Amino acid sequence: MNIKSNHLFKLRIILCLLIFLEAGCATPPKSAIASAHPLASQAGFEILDVGGNAFDAAVAVSAALAVVEPSGSGLGGGGFWLLHRASDGKQVMIDGRERAPMAATRGMFLDANGNFDQSRSLNGALAAGIPGMPAAIVHMAEKYGELPIAQSLGPAIRYAREGFLVDEGYLRLIAFRAKVMKQYPSAASIFLHNKENPKPPFRLQQTDLANTLEQIGKRGKAGFYQGSVGQALVAGVRSAGGIWTRKDLQDYAIVERKPVIWNYKGIKITSAAPPSSGGVVLTEALNILSAFDLANETKINRKHLIIESMRRAYRDRARYLGDPDYIQMPLPRLLSAAYAEKLRSDIRIDHAGFASETVDTAVDPVEGQNTTHFSVLDKAGNRVSATLSINYPFGSCLVAKGTGVLLNDEMDDFVGQKGSPNTYGLTGGEANAIEPGKRMLSSMTPTFLEDSERVAILGTPGGSRIISMVLLAILDFSEGHDVDSWVAVPRFHHQYEPDLVQYEKGGLSYDEIQLLEKKGHKFKEIKRHYGNMQAILWNKRNQSVTAASDPRKYGMAIVR
Ligand code: DON
Repeated sequence: MNIKSNHLFKLRIILCLLIFLEAGCATPPKSAIASAHPLASQAGFEILDVGGNAFDAAVAVSAALAVVEPSGSGLGGGGFWLLHRASDGKQVMIDGRERAPMAATRGMFLDANGNFDQSRSLNGALAAGIPGMPAAIVHMAEKYGELPIAQSLGPAIRYAREGFLVDEGYLRLIAFRAKVMKQYPSAASIFLHNKENPKPPFRLQQTDLANTLEQIGKRGKAGFYQGSVGQALVAGVRSAGGIWTRKDLQDYAIVERKPVIWNYKGIKITSAAPPSSGGVVLTEALNILSAFDLANETKINRKHLIIESMRRAYRDRARYLGDPDYIQMPLPRLLSAAYAEKLRSDIRIDHAGFASETVDTAVDPVEGQNTTHFSVLDKAGNRVSATLSINYPFGSCLVAKGTGVLLNDEMDDFVGQKGSPNTYGLTGGEANAIEPGKRMLSSMTPTFLEDSERVAILGTPGGSRIISMVLLAILDFSEGHDVDSWVAVPRFHHQYEPDLVQYEKGGLSYDEIQLLEKKGHKFKEIKRHYGNMQAILWNKRNQSVTAASDPRKYGMAIVR
């Protein structure tokens, strides 16, 4: 080694040490959990308080949400758990997305005339993919946790056995799904009251679910996918006209995937990889926006440019994205700066961009506590950002008798027929067509943000609008606002098809709409507020931890 390279070598070591000290020594002064339900946030803290880390707490929160927010997620569903391990900086996405059963076929939701019959992709046994959540939480506990899973499931088991009083969101969504649920007595007997819509105060007790959780505590993955629970799941699905087999359940496996990681104006963004479209669509939109000085644009031009970035990024979602284990995606190209430049080149500041091909397929689904997000930070600096789902409110409305497990209706996230939108108005093609064993494309976007001073953990439910909500929150973060502001930011959205700017109640002002209409944009007001963002901010400069739960809903952020 000559003198010059020796020096370089030493310099490199010093640099590495500095980087390590900077990243490795700084730990948050407090822990934080933000989730869609107070009991779930408390369950997480119960586990942190007995020596669990963020991953154990995430097991506790996931399981608790399955019990106390059954409209949104659960053992019969799936999700994406984005993890950051402080000890070595490892970042990984646990892909616990549902898979199509092996007997699934491309035309399974077409009626006798060859038309897409959405009632079958949303309701009952055929709508349900093979659940991923039980395998994901077992994996998280075993590989990343400190505590036995039986302990982390404790609070959820207690909530299920003892019962709890349901909130307003539950009552609203059960009323929305009651008609379908009445067709499935094993679900109706748990979630309805004497076969009718429950009225407050309604205490929801789930003894079968408590027993199923206990089986997972005792036997791990086999406690759900095999044995008496597995058997009851298959029997319940098949007797309701479904196609699951014991082998489908036995073969289910989570996948650890590398998250999508990129940089926007000095912010390192880590987000969900396919089979979620979240990270890719976010990257494309932010790469497009990175060439603009949004903070110094007029309010109208800023919104116009954001809408144009969404329009282009969502177009690629429909064209290219799906399950990476089944299809080839041109990801390096889609994520590149050169591609963003190309997408940016036909943006005109005075006019809305190209129209999409379809007519108005805008949907106004009941939304809020179907699907859920939670964020966790522990004092070691471990983080979890997780978005979980059973898809539509109360999923397929089917409970396999004796299990207490409400099954998802995630099969509707596939393209049931080319040209026919799913319940979120999303379209697509070959990449997201139904195939045996395939994971359906998702919009769930659990995300971490990091700049030189701040670390953020965030995400939200909201169907196709999840990605645009996270995008708006990231822009708010990049402009220096705090956590309360990101979760409250007024929301608007464009997903290419339909060619409409959708916005929540109050999300755009009358004047803004007038001026944007002059540029050629078309609008649809979603009559309610949408989304349910749960976020945490650790500011390393002033060593503070803050957290916020979306003011639109009933969640709780705890910092302690
Ligand atoms: O994975 C997805 O993209 C959807 N199943 C998520 C559904 C959702 O967020 C419902 N909305 N609140």
